Amino acid sequence: MPNDRRDPVLEKARDHANGYLDGLATRHIGVKLGRDEMLAQLQAPLAAEGENPAAVIDLLASQAEVGMTACSSPRYFGFVIGGTYPVALAADWLVSTWDQNAGIHAISPFSAAVEEVAAGWVLDLLDLPHESSVGFVTGGQMANFTCLAAARHGVLSRVGWDVELDGLAGAPVVNIVVSAGSHVTIEAAMRYLGFGTRSLLRVEADEQGRIRPESLRKLLATLDGPTIICAQAGNVNSGSFDPLREIAGIALEAGAWLHVDSAFGLWARASKTFAHLADGIDLADSWATDAHKWLNVPYDSGLAIVKHPADHRAAMTSSASYLIQTQGAERDALDWVPEFSRRARAIPIYATLRALGSGGVEDLVDRNCARAREMATALEQEDGVQVLNDVVLNQALVRFGNDDELTRAVVTAVQAEGTCWASGTTWNGHAAMRISVSNWATSPDDVSQSASAILAVYRSLQQR
Ligand SMILES: Cc1ncc(COP(=O)(O)O)c(C=O)c1O
Repeated sequence: MPNDRRDPVLEKARDHANGYLDGLATRHIGVKLGRDEMLAQLQAPLAAEGENPAAVIDLLASQAEVGMTACSSPRYFGFVIGGTYPVALAADWLVSTWDQNAGIHAISPFSAAVEEVAAGWVLDLLDLPHESSVGFVTGGQMANFTCLAAARHGVLSRVGWDVELDGLAGAPVVNIVVSAGSHVTIEAAMRYLGFGTRSLLRVEADEQGRIRPESLRKLLATLDGPTIICAQAGNVNSGSFDPLREIAGIALEAGAWLHVDSAFGLWARASKTFAHLADGIDLADSWATDAHKWLNVPYDSGLAIVKHPADHRAAMTSSASYLIQTQGAERDALDWVPEFSRRARAIPIYATLRALGSGGVEDLVDRNCARAREMATALEQEDGVQVLNDVVLNQALVRFGNDDELTRAVVTAVQAEGTCWASGTTWNGHAAMRISVSNWATSPDDVSQSASAILAVYRSLQQR
């Protein structure tokens, strides 16, 4: 029996949510309306008198249906976008319902305890040093920012400079070494931290986007003073991994802080088959990763992991006389993240890890990588279709007719056709379609349907 005090707008939202989920596996993946048509539906003068809440929710749901890509669909292969496990979504619904401010322990001891347990599971599952601290942030960008703030604090404090107190003006110069294949969020994080992008020292990458260790060694030999090296596990295009064990050895010799942007690649550690790709990653000082990508929890959810909790905490913590902060074992989340008030976003991570177990995460990684391989194989059997990368993980780069214009046209036409969705990129100077298999629900049938649709589009464009 429904509780008669229950707000009908919530029932309405649940029906819309279920309707969306029911259609996810079969619907057109792309958007059907452009900006102008969408604005025409959504735009209205903000009236003095409000409107019926259920009608507002109906309006939003009707426009979402035509204006969103179904990026949680099993046939969505754009960018690196995970789906959402039902248990993760269920937990996320409750996070919104409970509306906890998870910033400090005193407001939400439950959220703090969930974070603590989930952090331990993540370190175990990904086989990272157990003393590491973990911040639950919004995504890879903020994970990179948080880890690199800890790095900035760590390398400067080791030469006697407190950047939190004294800032960067007059500070010893910090050498920032990044790969030519780094993700753009590394640059952005460095900008937020006061290191201009012109000061970044770039190390050459090979044809798969991996740092060339000999170039790194050569560069470090010319440097002196505090140094941060940014390596990568999982190139956003090719999925390739830097040679991390070798890089860790070089960083150790140079006394540098090694940060690894592993937005999705870190999860390879959960798989016996793929863990070797990240061999040596545990020797780094910090790791940025996402849960909304490969763990398939809803947006937004990332993890900043730092081997040196004192540096992590010094870079993030804030205090004020009106707060109730713990001095003891209890966890105040604001010690580990840039936000102050925040959503209890560790709860879906806890729920998903507990429901899947380590075996479930391994299975997820293994299945996605197998599907990426199948997709590459199905596509490259066609004359004129070329796979540009070594498909080592869940990413494939595909080029059509060895022609930039045709490749871009195939990407656009595939998006319009709607069976699946893939995005484009430029790889080693050539246009390519990026295919990222990151959704828990992607089946072999989704792959074969999608490959057939892509090839049909390619053939029809070739004939023009
Ligand atoms: C290697 C890498 N780093 C960082 C990011 C940024 O992550 P987010 O979009 O969660 O901020 C991405 C996103 O694709 C990525 O692939």
